[in-house]
Amino acid sequence: MIFEPFPAYRPSYFHVKFATAPWERQACAALRRQVFCTEQGIFEGDDRDTIDGHAIPICALSTLGGETDAVVGTVRIHEVAKRPGEWWGSRLAVSKAFRGTAALGAGLIQVAVSSAHARGCTRFLAHVQERNVALFQALHWESLDALDLHGRPHHLMQADLAAYPPMRDPETGLVTLRKAA
Ligand SMILES: CC(C)(COP(=O)(O)OP(=O)(O)OC[C@H]1O[C@@H](n2cnc3c(N)ncnc32)[C@H](O)[C@@H]1OP(=O)(O)O)[C@@H](O)C(=O)NCCC(=O)NCCS
Repeated sequence: MIFEPFPAYRPSYFHVKFATAPWERQACAALRRQVFCTEQGIFEGDDRDTIDGHAIPICALSTLGGETDAVVGTVRIHEVAKRPGEWWGSRLAVSKAFRGTAALGAGLIQVAVSSAHARGCTRFLAHVQERNVALFQALHWESLDALDLHGRPHHLMQADLAAYPPMRDPETGLVTLRKAA
């Protein structure tokens, strides 16, 4: 008798939404640590900062049997207290195994900018690592400046809000599908 290896489970769709449940928020923090401390070595041990005190975490969730089961992507957004209408996105990360598979980065950026737009955002900015500038340009962002941050080349970039209609139900968010193999 020949036993075939059991194929690894691959979720076919993902939810991208505000991280509301405590387990979702904890898993977002763990993924950030994994990507920005362990993988990229930008921060040592812990990447949290004072912005986390008032930022809104967003998550991309994989699904199993129709239920969400794990955080595989994250980003956070916040409004600048001294400049109402100015919002920033930061700590965008997708789990390595899911990069390029289901437009999770694009989905996270969509929920980030569109939910801020619905909350009165008039300007949405991010410091983008140089190697990701092309991704953001393809998603209707423009580079305003080039600068070094954490010893690495970044661009200050701004989203074209016309490409991000206000999203009024970010607790529900959107669904992205796995790309055909
Ligand atoms: C950057 C990152 C979030 C992108 O996530 P992702 O889920 O792989 O991105 P997507 O699948 O949504 O990509 C959307 C499109 O942009 C393309 N793309 C992805 N990364 C790109 C890059 N660095 N440069 C150019 N294009 C890129 C994809 O091929 C895709 O194009 P397609 O729709 O024609 O196939 C992910 O690579 C990551 O977590 N990197 C490590 C963390 C990091 O660098 N974060 C800082 C971001 S400033």
